Amino acid sequence: MAIPFQIDPLTPADIPAAEAVERRAYSTVVAQKELASELKNWLAHYFVLKTMAQPAEVIGLAGYWLIAGDMHVITIAIDPGWKRAGLGQWLLFTLLADAHSRGADVATLEVRPSNQPAIALYQKFGFEPVGRRPRYYPDTGEDALILTTPPLASPEYQARLAGLKTETLARLAQF
Ligand SMILES: CC(C)(COP(=O)(O)OP(=O)(O)OC[C@H]1O[C@@H](n2cnc3c(N)ncnc32)[C@H](O)[C@@H]1OP(=O)(O)O)[C@@H](O)C(=O)NCCC(=O)NCCS
Repeated sequence: MAIPFQIDPLTPADIPAAEAVERRAYSTVVAQKELASELKNWLAHYFVLKTMAQPAEVIGLAGYWLIAGDMHVITIAIDPGWKRAGLGQWLLFTLLADAHSRGADVATLEVRPSNQPAIALYQKFGFEPVGRRPRYYPDTGEDALILTTPPLASPEYQARLAGLKTETLARLAQF
């Protein structure tokens, strides 16, 4: 199914636009990871979402670390002008598929309890709360919720991902 967007591994040339997307997407001033150093981090895997316009515009960024079979989501951000179109879902699907192909057993992340859009996205992908990290976010002192997926390789989870892939591509093909 043809869609007018592409997701590519992050390159040095993408960094200024990707960092600008992150700044616009997060309402807090807390920096995510420094992308230039993340490109040198062998645990890290980052992707940018681009339009197919000429020149392509970076409208999303997502990244994870793979540590001993645990895919740890570091960031997922969609430019505010492109939200609620299925693009965050496509980025998250891409991260999970990439991590699974590299041998990840399970995915974990931290999220602010106040971040309902992100929590809803993660619930759609089967993430469930497994704990809290007290006062995790230095800007507000908010706790972090820790969310985890079921085993990525389980037939049930792979069926869920396949369904989400079909849904996402059908949605994005309407652009
Ligand atoms: C979280 C974020 C990446 C979602 O991206 P998005 O492209 O808008 O999300 P999608 O359109 O792909 O939505 C997929 C699902 O997420 C959930 N969702 C996304 N935004 C939502 C909102 N504002 N309210 C409720 N549910 C929402 C829904 O379940 C949605 O499925 P549906 O469209 O079938 O209802 C985006 O809001 C963002 O960049 N937020 C700022 C950065 C951030 O907080 N990242 C997460 C850090 S832990």
